[in-house]
Amino acid sequence: MKVGVLGAGTMGAGIAQVAAQNNCEVVLVDLSQDMLTKAENNLDKVLSRLVEKGTLSEDDKINIQGRISYSTDVRDFKSSALIIEAIVENLDVKHKVFADLESIVSNECILASNTSSLSIASIGSVLKNPSRVIGIHFFNPAPLMPLVEIIPAVQTSEETLATTKALISNWKKVGVICKDTPGFIVNRVARPFYGEALRIYEEGIADFATIDWAMTSIGGFRMGPFTLMDYIGNDVNYAVTESVFASFYFDPRFKPSFTQKRHKEAGFYGKKTGRGYYNYAEGVELPKPTEQKELGEKIFNRILVMLINEAIDAVFLNVATKEDVDLAMTNGVNYPKGLLKWADEIGLKNVLSQLEELFEEYGEDRYRPNPLLRRMVKNNQHFFN
Ligand code: NAI
Repeated sequence: MKVGVLGAGTMGAGIAQVAAQNNCEVVLVDLSQDMLTKAENNLDKVLSRLVEKGTLSEDDKINIQGRISYSTDVRDFKSSALIIEAIVENLDVKHKVFADLESIVSNECILASNTSSLSIASIGSVLKNPSRVIGIHFFNPAPLMPLVEIIPAVQTSEETLATTKALISNWKKVGVICKDTPGFIVNRVARPFYGEALRIYEEGIADFATIDWAMTSIGGFRMGPFTLMDYIGNDVNYAVTESVFASFYFDPRFKPSFTQKRHKEAGFYGKKTGRGYYNYAEGVELPKPTEQKELGEKIFNRILVMLINEAIDAVFLNVATKEDVDLAMTNGVNYPKGLLKWADEIGLKNVLSQLEELFEEYGEDRYRPNPLLRRMVKNNQHFFN
């Protein structure tokens, strides 16, 4: 299949690599020749490393590189069967670009967006044939992260969805189908991992290092919330939180945190600026956690039940199937277990009683247990088997 990728930044370059590694002819277009050159040089480095490690032959490397052509002219997309847009996250710009793309390609060409936060329905609204619009949301780094969220909009045809699903599975990715709702699956369900950790810190229950320790040592997560926010960047993570909060009509469950806002305002973005919740300057030792088992378990359980409640809400509102919600969190953000499977293991009754306790104590809407959770407990049900 001939694939066009628009935008040669972090995501576009990664998506072009995935497509080329799976035998697609790719045209990568960016406004900036500089970005194209960078993408080309970077791909050479990445593939050379794979050759050194013995996971790729020299011939494969040459073939993959040969399948990608680089251009600053969108007209080179003319014969593409699919275009994946990965440019700036700005709706006005995307509208203009999608209208332009449609005037270049055939009527069968699928027009996809890799957007993290914009509505696919809105992006497609500028098209004469909006049945060809779809969201294809990769995770960073695209060549390594298995998950792809596939988001049909209200306008998307069955055919566009079926072709996209087949392609993503051909690319050996884990495709999950998700309703066109804010944050899709991962960026919605994962909110409490950050938000509840920040809240626990703000209440003075524990410091950053202790919360991170609880989530990694007791919870088995690869990274604690504060380390992860520092890695993602507090500017980026805060912007996602704010956008999800606004998109949900200010549902208090998604309320952003002043702690994170102040860190962002101070320029404490994290690793990339040398300072975030932690100080990454050379010679500075990272703070030590208070390794108290009881405290750690309390922190971990509170964050976990909030995550589970959010995962259940996604199923309750038909954002995705229970299977896809679990696949999304294990393949998109490396959670040690699917949240719904985890809920079965610790017992739905237990999850409900912990949430009820928090709700009772705080009287805040963010702790309200999901109706599906209540219903399942009442009927003595599990998510799986
Ligand atoms: P980036 O800033 O690294 O790259 C964007 C590229 O688009 C730049 O090279 C820029 O020159 C080019 N560009 C801007 N306007 C253009 C236009 N009109 N025509 C052609 N090229 C244009 O951005 P990044 O991080 O790769 O994100 C791109 C998209 O992917 C955004 O929609 C973002 O929300 C989404 N996304 C980002 C993820 C991430 O972790 N960075 C993860 C998943 C999705």
